[in-house]
Amino acid sequence: MSRWTHRHILDLAAFSREDYAAVLELAHRFRSMPVTGARKLPALQGRLVATLFFEPSTRTRSSFELAARRLSADVSSFSPGSSSLSKGESLLDTARTYVAMGADVLVVRHQCTSVPQQLAEALEASGERTVVLNGGDGLHSHPSQGLLDLYTLAHHFDPLHPLPEALRGKRILIVGDILHSRVARSNLWALTACGADVVLCGPPSLLPSAFAGFVDAPPPGQSVDPVPDRGSVTVSHRLDEALPGADAVMTLRLQKERMSQHLLTDLDRYHRDYGLNHARLERCGKPVPVLHPGPVNRGVEMTGALLDDTGRHSGRCLVEEQVRHGIPIRMALLYLMAAAESSADAALASVG
Ligand code: CP
Repeated sequence: MSRWTHRHILDLAAFSREDYAAVLELAHRFRSMPVTGARKLPALQGRLVATLFFEPSTRTRSSFELAARRLSADVSSFSPGSSSLSKGESLLDTARTYVAMGADVLVVRHQCTSVPQQLAEALEASGERTVVLNGGDGLHSHPSQGLLDLYTLAHHFDPLHPLPEALRGKRILIVGDILHSRVARSNLWALTACGADVVLCGPPSLLPSAFAGFVDAPPPGQSVDPVPDRGSVTVSHRLDEALPGADAVMTLRLQKERMSQHLLTDLDRYHRDYGLNHARLERCGKPVPVLHPGPVNRGVEMTGALLDDTGRHSGRCLVEEQVRHGIPIRMALLYLMAAAESSADAALASVG
């Protein structure tokens, strides 16, 4: 396995297939750890992880904090509403304040694209060793979500070996507001890197046809794609035509403000054209899993009956599984970043 080279984790475009394998393998070991008794590993003892979320979050923030605690890190949580931002302190000075308190890792979410990257660059320029992990920036990237979705799919297709190879040749349908989705972008990089063929589906106003070429050029800032043989990306605007042959369907949260921006006419029509339900999924020709990064608008992206169909063995909906997998995936990321000086092999060996 290759050396772990990512000091910060800002975008999955920079990940090689070996990187995905390292994260998934480590996460699978963390997932398999006993859920009773002593649940903490000493890996990050004495380290401080600060979660700087300038935008709301339930899943990402909580699971990063749980992941950090399970690795014995100290955790500090920043809430913009009750912070000195309201007194005019800048975002960079806020981050520097956490660095001055000893933060080894900053997990950063912001509504503007590139804020985590700008913070990482500013900290590096001033010689700080603190690493930055992107918890979701603007429309750009949500790397930990892309990785937990990848693990959830790999685990569904091959529960004993949930590795990138489990995705090879699979047809994964992503439905909804692709244009405004950082989750879709991270999934495009991750799924195609593992050899899946991705079909994007949504109304033309939320899915420009140019998305078919999303992974064709080298990733931004890189002269060469770290994955030489990606799976394909195709675009469809008709869900009922895109469903046949799909191996899994992921639907995305519809941001209701798109109606006021005249990108949608009404939610009932959206649900009729792009909403998932049990009967519609029959078009896939076989039982397929349904994923959603959350939070879900019940009755818009999918019916309540489908969302609640989560039985551990027979359920179609993997939304709760995705949430559960968020913790071992984020443990893996924190662990690899803390062990960045050593190889991914050494990190895996030390988990046992
Ligand atoms: N999927 C996701 O990012 O959820 P939160 O906004 O709750 O973190």
